[in-house]
Amino acid sequence: TARSSVIVAIDGPSGTGKSSTSKAVAAALGLSYLDTGAQYRAITWWMLTNGIDVGNPEEIATAAAKPVIVSGTDPAAPTITVDGEDASGPIRTQEVTSKVSAVSAVPEVRTLITALQRSIAAAATGGIVVEGRDIGTTVLPDADLKIFLTASPEARAARRSGEVKGSDLTATREALIKRDAADSGRKTSPLAKADDAVEVDTTELTLQQVIECVVTLVEGKRVAA
Ligand code: DC
Repeated sequence: TARSSVIVAIDGPSGTGKSSTSKAVAAALGLSYLDTGAQYRAITWWMLTNGIDVGNPEEIATAAAKPVIVSGTDPAAPTITVDGEDASGPIRTQEVTSKVSAVSAVPEVRTLITALQRSIAAAATGGIVVEGRDIGTTVLPDADLKIFLTASPEARAARRSGEVKGSDLTATREALIKRDAADSGRKTSPLAKADDAVEVDTTELTLQQVIECVVTLVEGKRVAA
């Protein structure tokens, strides 16, 4: 029999269209949506604005439980607050982007954020699309569908560059490759494709094609379940 609730994990490096795809798929299918990168960005922003030395993993670990991070899961208007304050703007700055890999590599940070993510997914009784780096491998290993999005470094840099006003393509490409290497190389729960994930190479696909592909995969799971 068909099931109304489905849990979808979408992982992959930056610039593969993860966020745009995840939001659109969730909206099309009436599911909730969680951007886990935004949570790591939010905790990083809190550390930076509260005088924590983000070069010091022990200091990060000690402070990790202090900020209260709340994510709104409507795909049409996702929100994120830190201690009640809207953080959606500040978490997208260059400063946060360049420091988020270091903060998110700290095991205490991952333990707390992972627990938060699991509780949000459990509360989304109508189903949810969760996007990140370790959702299929660590956060929701029992997800009904796991997608791993990839794209060539050139395509990813071009997409990111288009998103960030006035950005330089070469610098964007280098920063992106550096961040992916850090995210893939960390000890705790690195960026990785789950064994049972469906890999979708988006290099030659339009966003609309990627969305359609994932929607079809989700529909297949719903019927099969
Ligand atoms: O998706 P994003 O670029 O906003 O993510 C920002 C950073 O957060 C990314 O460089 C690594 C980290 N992250 C993570 O470690 N685990 C996740 N599930 C999601 C993001």
